[in-house]
Order: sequence, then structure tokens, then C-alpha cells
Amino acid sequence: MPTPQDHESLRRTDERRVLHPFSALHTQPGRDVLVVREAKGLVLTDDRGHQFIDAGSGLWCSNAGYGCAEIVRAAAAQMQAVSFSHNFSVMSSEPLIQLSERLVALAPPGFERVLYANGGSEANDTQVKLAWRYHIVRGKPAKKKIISRKGGYHGATVMAGSLTGLEVTHRGFHMPLDFVLHTEAAEYRRRPAAFDGDELAFSRYLADQLDCMIQAEGADTIAAFFAEPIMGSAGVILPPAGYFAEIQKVLARHDVLLVADEVITAFGRTGAWFASPGLDMQPDLITVAKGLTSGYFPMSACLVSRKVCEVLYAEEEADGMFGHGFTTAGHPVAAAVALANLDIIEREGLVAHSARTGAYLLEQLRQKLRGAAHLGEIRGKGLFAGIEFDAEPGARRPFAEPGRISGLLQQCLVEERVLLRSGHGRVVGAVAPPLIATPADVDEIVKRVARAVERFEERLPADLGA
Ligand SMILES: Cc1ncc(COP(=O)(O)O)c(C=O)c1O
Repeated sequence: MPTPQDHESLRRTDERRVLHPFSALHTQPGRDVLVVREAKGLVLTDDRGHQFIDAGSGLWCSNAGYGCAEIVRAAAAQMQAVSFSHNFSVMSSEPLIQLSERLVALAPPGFERVLYANGGSEANDTQVKLAWRYHIVRGKPAKKKIISRKGGYHGATVMAGSLTGLEVTHRGFHMPLDFVLHTEAAEYRRRPAAFDGDELAFSRYLADQLDCMIQAEGADTIAAFFAEPIMGSAGVILPPAGYFAEIQKVLARHDVLLVADEVITAFGRTGAWFASPGLDMQPDLITVAKGLTSGYFPMSACLVSRKVCEVLYAEEEADGMFGHGFTTAGHPVAAAVALANLDIIEREGLVAHSARTGAYLLEQLRQKLRGAAHLGEIRGKGLFAGIEFDAEPGARRPFAEPGRISGLLQQCLVEERVLLRSGHGRVVGAVAPPLIATPADVDEIVKRVARAVERFEERLPADLGA
């Protein structure tokens, strides 16, 4: 443990020495930092003794909650037994083998193997390589382009950041890569008026758009389609009725693989082990991270279907050498942590608890925020909820400067000592607490959020978006 330092000296060193991701760099001088000194359950305590309810689970990852002794013990024991072992070639470790068996058992039907990485972005990069390899081995090397969606978030590396359909990960970075295409987001709230009252027609329209894109590019050039079952970072956006069923018809017709990015949604977040089956999504590849270890240790994984494995394992070219891997991917300590984390989620029934408590959360949010003048929509599934604000909710007209308004909302939430994730390009407060949240925790979160929203609306300058 580092020696405790006073806040001002920590702040000054941070200001000089830490380059903060996803922050406006020029605003760092003079800016305060929230230095977390202790984390237990849902509560973070900073170096000045202020306590915050973390209703965003860090970055959507703390499914089992903070400070869980059982996970800490599993990590320490594994570190003592085998502090490092890789899994290149013939090397492996007991926790890794056991975890792989367990993940395949939890995964939707048709999945067979697990390939590890360290974070969600790395795993999505790896999925692209798996998709390329799949088509190359089948004699279709021109199938290289990848389609993802506007508003989707898949990470920030050169590849995953290109898949991300948000300007924030592209601007100033020579991105996106030129073989990545972005199709329309599955966002029914921002639909053209022609689809009012008919979600299925909107889904068919989106599938048609995708079909046109694939045909215009040439189906023989498209390798895979990436989608989050429910878009997280964009602001917890659920797909319209029938969306994935319609999209999959197009993908099947053009021999395009479907990658479900379940980095946020897996391991109970939406009230199910995986979100894709409940949305009629039958992916060929699934990406997991975050809730896999509840953030206690970096780990992510690509779940690979039998369909893809059968092709990869049939390759004889260059002895079938799969020239891919990362030193610390599949780390035995990460695997031991993941096993302990899954034990807790299973034993404590956190998946069903997330479904139940999530329903209560939605109901309470809807009740307590009902009168908010700028409230556009409250939506969600399990402990994964989004509260969206609009300049003119009746007309579903968004704020002209969502970044600035979102900043104001975040400020009001922090003043109430409740942390929520925000939405990119939208004014959204995303409520995704650790899955251990009790109904009493939900009541406290909703109370603080309601107070923050009241203050937000008071401060919202009258001319904004008007
Ligand atoms: C859906 C999704 N995919 C991928 C990622 C990237 O994960 P990481 O930040 O671990 O690289 C994230 C991160 O928020 C995510 O939400």
C-alpha cells in the first residue's frame, strides 16, 4: 500500500504526471481528481473521507461489488501458487482450464472454445482476426471489411476504436480504419416519423439499410458484423422489436459472421448470464470482459462457436499455426479471480436478483422522476438502466450540445455523491450498480438521483436547446 498523502499533494502530482484517458487534456491544470482510497460493496470512499454510491459499477464492471474477501483470497492464493503462466502452445494452468470449461457451460448453445485477452478492446481486435481467419481458411480472403453501428462502443485500440461508432474515439487519430463501415444505430427513439408506433417496421428498415450497404460494398468483401446486444456507452439503448432476427437474415444471406459484444451485458448485468439469447441473437463469436472478473483483475475472452472452431481447426496451411496471443492473456490469477467471481454470482443468485432488482429500479426511477421537465425516457433491462433527457421531450428533440449538458448532469450527481455512467452524444444517466444492490440500495440511489435531477433542471439555462 502506498503511504497516504494529503489530497492537495496528490492532486498536484496527478495534474503533472497522469495523462487521463477520455478527458479533455487542456482542462487538467487546476482540475480536481477523485482519489479513491477505499471501496466496499457499492461505496467508494475518497482520500478526504467523502463517500459515494457507485451506481455505475466503475466502468460497468463491478458486478460482484467491491472489497469481496473471497475474491481477494482466491487471487492471493493463486499468486502464491503460480504467479505467472502463459498459455501459448502447450502451456496452460489449472484455473484457466477450469474457467474455460465453465464459460462454455454458461454460454449459449453452440459455443466450444475460449481464447483469452486482457481487456474488451483487445478481445474485439482478436475477434476480427478470428473472423478473417475463418473466411481465409474457407477460401474467401477478400472478406475483410467489418461492419459495426453508429453509436456502438467496442473499445479504443486502433481496431476496436475503429469499430466504435463514436466520433470521440476517431477524431485526431487517423481513425476509423478504412475497412470498417458503420451502419445505422438500432435506436427507436430517434426514428424517422414514418415508423411511429411500428418497431418491427423500423427493424426491417434497419436490416434493409444493412443489406444495401453489404450489396454496395460487395458481400464477398464483408467478414463480420459487430453489435452490443444492448448499446451501453451510448446510453443503454435497447434494440427495437425483431431487430436481431431481421439483421441475422441479412447476415446469413451474405455469409457474414455475427459478433456479440457482451463486454457489459454478460454475467448478470441484464438479468441473464448473457443478453444475446433473450434478444434472439445467435452470434458466431461472443466477447466478454468486465463482469468476468468484476474488475478485480484484467481479463477478457472471445467465446468461439463450434461453427468457427470447425473451420479454424481444419486449417492445414503452414501447419495451421495460429500466430496470435498476448503475454498476460489468460493469466492464472485472472482466471482464479474469474472462477471466484462466478462462484459468488452463482451462489448468491445474482443473475435472478439483477432481473428482480432491475425491475424495481425501473419502477422507482419512473415514479420518482415522473415530474422532471426534460425527462425523455427511462429504459433498461436488469440492473442496466438509462435515464435520457431531451431539450423538448414531447418532440423527442435532443439537446444541441449534449456534451456540455451531460457535464452539468454529472456535476449534479457528484454533488449528491452518487456516480452514474453517462451516455456519448446524448444526455443520459446510466444506472448500473453492482449486482449485489438491495432494494434499500436502489431506494437510496433513486433518492439521490432524483435530487440531482431536480438541481440539474434548476441550473439548466433556459435558452439551452430552446
Ligand atoms: C461493449 C464494450 N465493448 C468493449 C469495451 C472495451 O473494453 P476495454 O475498455 O476493456 O478495452 C467496452 C468498454 O466499455 C464496452 O463497453
